[in-house]
Amino acid sequence: MKEKLIAGNWKMNKTPSEAKALMKEIIPMVKNSPHKMMVAPSYVCLGAVAEMIKGTNIQLAAQDVSAHTEGAYTGEVSVSMLKDIGVDAVILGHSERRQYHGETDEMINKKLNLCLENGLTAIVCAGETLEEREAGRAFDVVQGQLDVSLKNIDKKFASKIVIAYEPVWAIGTGKTASSDQAEEVHAHIRKVLGGYFGADAAAQIVIQYGGSVKPDNVKELMSMPNIDGALVGGASLKADSFAALTSF
Ligand code: PGA
Repeated sequence: MKEKLIAGNWKMNKTPSEAKALMKEIIPMVKNSPHKMMVAPSYVCLGAVAEMIKGTNIQLAAQDVSAHTEGAYTGEVSVSMLKDIGVDAVILGHSERRQYHGETDEMINKKLNLCLENGLTAIVCAGETLEEREAGRAFDVVQGQLDVSLKNIDKKFASKIVIAYEPVWAIGTGKTASSDQAEEVHAHIRKVLGGYFGADAAAQIVIQYGGSVKPDNVKELMSMPNIDGALVGGASLKADSFAALTSF
């Protein structure tokens, strides 16, 4: 199988000591993985995890970043702070940030620009709700989110962009999109990206699927031609299941 990008989004789980214990287990278990891997712990765990993964085959992602560069923005964390710690990538526009923190496509666009200008990879999340899917609007909703989130992004940055298709109805619910349902949206996303960056650049962009990915469904999903990786929540929180997710 082609090399995939498997990223574990830990969300608001694991204290720094728990994060260190988990990484201590994960690192030797995945050292022979044929795939690219990332972990995305909370901000307060990033420093400790960054130290532990030096020289390993695991990359580090943050779950969000400020849309501002620096200054009087209490509670925010900037791109330069993340870079200084050794963060490689940032997840942007996760549906939980859209739902609970009012994150908009315009904000994602600002954050995306900042990440790319500063050499960070960005994982831009997009996905429809159950209501939108049932109304036959999945393609339109995802395209609408990407049109704004990726607006005016220079083609030269295409290789630093990852898209995560995460149908909201499949996140943390145990309901996975079938591999055909996911593939259909991924193929559409690839076409949309071709419209922004040209077909050649779009063919190289990693499009991850996310939403109840587990060791028992990862291989089937990853076998689809337009699915280049997975963004995993729940199943990334235990060493054995993360290792299983990266060893198919
Ligand atoms: P889940 O979360 O794997 O627990 O469904 C996926 C995500 O939100 O990235």
